[in-house]
Amino acid sequence: MKCSEKLKLVLAGAGGYGRFYLEALARPEILDKVEFIGAVEPFLNPETKLELERRGVPVFSDLSSAYEALGQVDLTCIVTPLPLHLEHIRTALEHGSHVLCEKPAAPVLDQLEPMIELEKNPGKCLAIGFQWSFAPAMLRCKKDILSGLFGDPVSVKALVLWPRPESYFRRGSGWGGKRTAEDGTPINDSVASNAAAHYLHNLYFMLGSSMKEAALPVEMQVSAARANKIENYDTICIKAKLKRGAELLYIASHAVDETQNPLIEYRFENAVIRYDCNTNYLTAYFNDGSTKKYGEVDADVHTKLEAVIDGVRNGNYENTVYCTPSTCKPHVWTVDQIYRNEEIFQFPAEKIQVYCPEDAQAKGVFAAGLREACKKAYEEETFLDFSELFRS
Ligand SMILES: NC(=O)c1ccc[n+]([C@@H]2O[C@H](COP(=O)([O-])OP(=O)(O)OC[C@H]3O[C@@H](n4cnc5c(N)ncnc54)[C@H](O)[C@@H]3O)[C@@H](O)[C@H]2O)c1
Repeated sequence: MKCSEKLKLVLAGAGGYGRFYLEALARPEILDKVEFIGAVEPFLNPETKLELERRGVPVFSDLSSAYEALGQVDLTCIVTPLPLHLEHIRTALEHGSHVLCEKPAAPVLDQLEPMIELEKNPGKCLAIGFQWSFAPAMLRCKKDILSGLFGDPVSVKALVLWPRPESYFRRGSGWGGKRTAEDGTPINDSVASNAAAHYLHNLYFMLGSSMKEAALPVEMQVSAARANKIENYDTICIKAKLKRGAELLYIASHAVDETQNPLIEYRFENAVIRYDCNTNYLTAYFNDGSTKKYGEVDADVHTKLEAVIDGVRNGNYENTVYCTPSTCKPHVWTVDQIYRNEEIFQFPAEKIQVYCPEDAQAKGVFAAGLREACKKAYEEETFLDFSELFRS
């Protein structure tokens, strides 16, 4: 492919998060490089229908019909529900298209392994859209980690408290908070596999032994819990040991009444690197008092989209796109282990409280005292066993 040619692009899934792709696909710098030739959306809402008509973009109800009608498609963006990723990646690659698929790659390892096989087929880019693995500030920092600037890794940790109302779990086509589909196919939608997946993946990604690799845990302790009426968990604590000896602590919950945006810290022999959610900046603080600023962590859809478009147009995506199914293995391995092995602790009814009870959209539940306990565990770097914490 020559740089001067525009890529013919199809978007699969135009509702939900796909709306951000529609916005990115209206930006002049993107439209200089791609032609948006089709959308696939079986449940098109009237507003999106009008917008796509206005833009002259035909809509199809399934991916195969789009390829049949459109002929050559260079890049397919897959923004469909998690359990459909494998099927849609396969279909796109079979039709000769490069792929940018939304995170997380897969709900369980059985669905990730075939993607890793597909990734080995030469000639097609298969990228997974964890935006922090495309953010220039993160990538500059990871290059410094790999160069040994900070010494050996000691520990990494993340805390994310994102209240989600009950309506969140009823979103889209009804896969929110589900463990399995009616036919038994794993969905495994959870706080760790979906909304706050970014930060668990990021901890593994930053300690990977090359730009494309992420570190695998060798030991793991998990506590999973729920306050919402869902099949899966809305609260998780993971303490793990990584291959290179570093400790990992990850705490995330939707069962809280106040937001704590991500707090992230990567501790090395010679420095601590912190992500500040208030400024959105990543900075390394060396033991000798000096600092290195990596700047703002750009998490926009157009950044990852442009990275994949440029990689495909320039034919160098193997060396410029650092998030593929194999990069996602530690994250999928973790949520798969939890899916198979962990019991989910139900927060006691007397601890569950309701916010916004009068508003059907905003109404949600939280476990009293959970937010404070999560923050304390993050500060003290201790494992939180929810069943012990809430034992009556
Ligand atoms: N990167 C991020 O920050 C981020 C944020 C939110 C969601 N996501 C990811 O985006 C993906 C979609 O999540 P969502 O929350 O938008 O889900 P959703 O259910 O709200 O939306 C998915 C869209 O896909 C459509 N769809 C369903 N079946 C389809 C099919 N067979 N072919 C084409 N389209 C189909 C649905 O109608 C819907 O419009 C997931 O992988 C999710 O994890 C990423």
